[in-house]
Amino acid sequence: MPKVTVLKHPLIEHKMSIIRDKNTSTKSFRENVSEVGALITYELTKDLELQAKEIETPVTKTTVYELKKPVVIVPILRAGLGMVDGIHDMIPSAKVGHIGLYRNEETLEPITYYAKFPQEIKNGCVIVIDPMLATGGSASAAITKLKEAGATDVRYVGLVGCPEGVERLQNDHPDVPIYLAALDERLNEKGYIVPGLGDCGDRLFGTK
Ligand code: URA
Repeated sequence: MPKVTVLKHPLIEHKMSIIRDKNTSTKSFRENVSEVGALITYELTKDLELQAKEIETPVTKTTVYELKKPVVIVPILRAGLGMVDGIHDMIPSAKVGHIGLYRNEETLEPITYYAKFPQEIKNGCVIVIDPMLATGGSASAAITKLKEAGATDVRYVGLVGCPEGVERLQNDHPDVPIYLAALDERLNEKGYIVPGLGDCGDRLFGTK
């Protein structure tokens, strides 16, 4: 079973209190979502391999350590875009791929309408973003696509999950660790996470 990490940190709790509040402005929502992305990145990347490099400081020669493998950030459109900047700020060398999915109304299967990944997914660490781990259907389908394209080290990051989504992702992709800012109670009959934060895409982009 992949590890599920629900981050416990006062800054994340505080930012989630703003994100969850329905009276939060679009601007503040967007900023805080991005900032939580940055904070989760610290935990998500703590096992990344390093390689030694000789450099000169202004004082002397020394050995420093840099990331050994590339990092690729892959937001699932559209809500995943909200966490990209925060993660990218922490890893400026990361490449960014994109994937868009919709659900076939008859079969309920997720269909990929857009996918563009950089070459580095084959030898790098791939961070898949879907802020709301609700049914887990989109995240699971996106990870399947990434694996078909050659990704081997995939990590999932989101804001809020629920037991249904976590279970689906764990079953479909037991090798993919899950990082969340919160794990909520359940999904309601409309597919929203409870208590959740509403429709993340709409709140990020001011649509309704
Ligand atoms: N997607 C959202 O944006 N919010 C939910 O609560 C569930 C899925």
